[in-house]
Amino acid sequence: MKLCMIGTGYVGLVSGVCFSDIGNTVYCVDKDQKKIDLLNKGIIPIFEPGLEEILKRNYKQKRLIFTSDLKKAVINSDIIFICVGTPTKKNANSADLKYVYSVAKDLKKIIKKKYKIIITKSTVPVSTGDKIEKILNNLKKKKLVDVVSNPEFLREGEAIRDFIYPDRVIIGTDSNKANRILKSLYFPIIKKKSRYFNTSRRGAELIKYASNAFLATKISFINEIANLCEKTGVDIKDVSQGMGSDERIGDRFLRAGPAYGGSCFPKDTRALIDTGNQFKTDLTIIKSVVNSNDNRKTLLIKRVVKILGGNLKNKIITFLGVTFKPNTDDMREATSIPMIKYLNKKNSKIKYYDPSGKKVDFKDLKNVNYCNTISSACLNADMVILHTEWNDFKLLNFKKLVKKQRFKIYDMRNMYSPSRMKKLNIDYYGVGR
Ligand SMILES: NC(=O)c1ccc[n+]([C@@H]2O[C@H](COP(=O)([O-])OP(=O)(O)OC[C@H]3O[C@@H](n4cnc5c(N)ncnc54)[C@H](O)[C@@H]3O)[C@@H](O)[C@H]2O)c1
Repeated sequence: MKLCMIGTGYVGLVSGVCFSDIGNTVYCVDKDQKKIDLLNKGIIPIFEPGLEEILKRNYKQKRLIFTSDLKKAVINSDIIFICVGTPTKKNANSADLKYVYSVAKDLKKIIKKKYKIIITKSTVPVSTGDKIEKILNNLKKKKLVDVVSNPEFLREGEAIRDFIYPDRVIIGTDSNKANRILKSLYFPIIKKKSRYFNTSRRGAELIKYASNAFLATKISFINEIANLCEKTGVDIKDVSQGMGSDERIGDRFLRAGPAYGGSCFPKDTRALIDTGNQFKTDLTIIKSVVNSNDNRKTLLIKRVVKILGGNLKNKIITFLGVTFKPNTDDMREATSIPMIKYLNKKNSKIKYYDPSGKKVDFKDLKNVNYCNTISSACLNADMVILHTEWNDFKLLNFKKLVKKQRFKIYDMRNMYSPSRMKKLNIDYYGVGR
């Protein structure tokens, strides 16, 4: 089939590349010309394991086309995926849908003759599909378009695997024609035992938000139980394991750590509360999750201050990992940002190392420096904070790395064994233990 991905970010690029790998011709469009130029040179603007190889293979086979020419891409495609960002609106909780609607308006001008399926793969609040359909009303009347919701569930860092082996493919449409075409598009994926689920468009839109809000709830829940563990002398890892062995609960997303961050959970939980308000439904659980998660950032900062004896001035604090999770370069709403900003304001000196490289988020901060190696980042540190559980940090020799007599390690991901750290005479702090 001939596909067009509008927005070549994490979702558009990964889905486009994977769709091309199963034999489709895919136009990946972005308004950011720099991004398109890089991709045409074989340079991938994001860090996503495994993506480069598949991209190069399909680019060579001419199944992947990177362009900023929306008109040409749309005219030549049968299925159009909208994959643009839906960030939180400034000073509000709601999702900013300006990029989505602007694409819909462009499509209205471009589509003239041939039937096309317009799909929102971007995460959009319930009833957005209705509004897009309204914009495309004339085309809909002429049966030239169907507007479908097909939310994406891939996780950054595992995006290729998630796209090729999804747990489910959700198609929100009441059009038999669109459903039949999309079922055949996804056929090579569904064959691999993932569930193809056809529901209403609004249903598909809500499934995405409900899923993300539920996972965010699981994280916040275990983080609060971790707080209780710290007061009661219980190890949160035991609680997670004990709870997670119950199949009704499951052990995933049940690991205590920093507040959840990233490009999805924070914005999607906020947007869902806003949707609740619009439809006069008080989503109290999700409200308290958002609140709990915001409080957690302050709570962990307070803990750092306490471990360092209350005085941050000139303290050298090293962050190992700053991204919101491993195997991605994405810094959107990473908890390291408010933490580093606060600690820096209190005159501590921050050094950080992240396998995905230096971050622009800290470029204007004095005394926040990127180090090229783990050892240079840890040199002379008063405290090392294990912020992101990259594999690179799993087997560190702290005795060698940190030269000070009594250095402190704050392991926010509980990667290390407290008893082993004790044996090494290392001042070690974990989360909920
Ligand atoms: N990142 C994830 O892990 C993930 C997972 C599932 C769903 N989502 C959802 O998918 C959507 C996209 O997320 P993302 O992380 O890929 O965003 P992103 O910011 O990485 O990419 C969005 C891209 O869209 C481009 N764009 C914006 N307007 C455009 C236009 N008019 N024409 C062409 N290109 C345009 C931008 O230049 C950018 O490259 C969001 O709604 C997000 O919630 C993201």
